[in-house]
Amino acid sequence: MSVRELTSDDRPAYRRLTAQAFGGGAVEEVPGPFPEGEIPLGVDSTARPGGQEGVLAAGARIRRDTIALGGGTTACGGIGGLAVHPAHRGGGLFGELLAGVLARCGAEGMAFSMLYPSNPAIYRRHGYQVVARTERIVVPLGELQRLRSVPGRRLVPVTEATMPRLRRLYTKLTAEDNAMLRREPPLFPAGLPSPPWGAVLLEDEAGADRGYLSFSRIAPGSDGAGLEVHEIMGRDRDDLLALLQHLGSWSTVTTAARVRLRTEDPILDVLPGGGLRTTGDIVPLVMMRLVDTARALADRPAPAGLTGSVRLEVRDRTPSATACRADGCWDVRAEGGVVHVEQTSRDEPIPPAGVHETPQAWARLDVHAAALLLAGGRSLGDARRAGLEAEADAAGEAFIDTLLRGPRPSVLDAF
Ligand SMILES: CC(C)(COP(=O)(O)OP(=O)(O)OC[C@H]1O[C@@H](n2cnc3c(N)ncnc32)[C@H](O)[C@@H]1OP(=O)(O)O)[C@@H](O)C(=O)NCCC(=O)NCCS
Repeated sequence: MSVRELTSDDRPAYRRLTAQAFGGGAVEEVPGPFPEGEIPLGVDSTARPGGQEGVLAAGARIRRDTIALGGGTTACGGIGGLAVHPAHRGGGLFGELLAGVLARCGAEGMAFSMLYPSNPAIYRRHGYQVVARTERIVVPLGELQRLRSVPGRRLVPVTEATMPRLRRLYTKLTAEDNAMLRREPPLFPAGLPSPPWGAVLLEDEAGADRGYLSFSRIAPGSDGAGLEVHEIMGRDRDDLLALLQHLGSWSTVTTAARVRLRTEDPILDVLPGGGLRTTGDIVPLVMMRLVDTARALADRPAPAGLTGSVRLEVRDRTPSATACRADGCWDVRAEGGVVHVEQTSRDEPIPPAGVHETPQAWARLDVHAAALLLAGGRSLGDARRAGLEAEADAAGEAFIDTLLRGPRPSVLDAF
């Protein structure tokens, strides 16, 4: 395979490739290492017909991300900066590069790969599935001014000294989520994000952290919003109310705020009135591909009290199937909060039931349904409604839906 890991010597060529593909102005010829926490891969132009020295025919970066998985965590390869040189397009290089990227994700012990596509169809053919979207809404601030202050809550400025509290709270509040990034160094360096980013931390009278709101002041756009709210997180409804009341204090300088939401964000149930608007932006989609089925299952804790098993078959018929370990058949057992996964053959007969036992449950998913379900928070019924192949007997369906429970996936890429 012609896909190789790039070194700091390749950095200028990679920057030329991505600047040409995505824009980004002048390319400095300053070689240097690729950012820590990322694996850069590429294909040399000289490996292709008509290729030239010092040029990359294609390249991409894999982020070594960790994501939340219903109370556990798993390694996930975040794909970014994928481009094929204009002179080498239209010849199948995209699929070759993606296969190399996915094979490397598997070799690095990653259960999933994740990306934010500008063209979802080309990734879907390779087994990626839309699992979430990031939404932003425009919230008028006038009505928030009428919210009464919540007793027993106060705000604390976020500084270098208090930022670690905010980070710990984020990790705690998203631990049971599905797909939320863990935001750990080196991909998320310690310290304050750069200006104009700012935040306030909410604490109770005993000084315990309850929530936070992070924001950037922006020039008002056509929607009138002069404040970008990156996140509003709180432990309970009162915390969210206290943070919304604070948000109302910005109404002297702007009429509205643009607020980024998690999937089914609890803030929607706490906002006091109507008047919410969409932003008019393109909705960023999040796609995930299953790289290693057994790992994705075993890294998720089993819900307390769930005991049972299923024979699970995943069918990966995409061109990237051989680069991944998604295709296959496994006996999946939940016991004592742990998921045990054992590979079996498709031809292996399902073990006969003992005298007092019920027959072995089974389920069969295509690779898209498997990505949707194993990312968490979705049911086999959801997969079927999306037109994906998701079959099971009644016991298998009940077991899988319980095992892969939790909130629907959300991905927010920064504080
Ligand atoms: C998109 C891009 C990576 C495709 O690379 P490529 O090597 O030319 O693609 P391939 O020849 O391997 O074709 C792969 C598939 O994508 C399809 N495709 C390629 N360019 C496409 C486009 N602009 N729109 C829709 N489909 C496209 C091809 O028809 C082919 O489909 P198939 O799998 O059914 O045969 C390349 O055009 C590029 O680098 N563009 C600019 C940067 C970019 O868009 N990166 C992706 C960001 S999400």
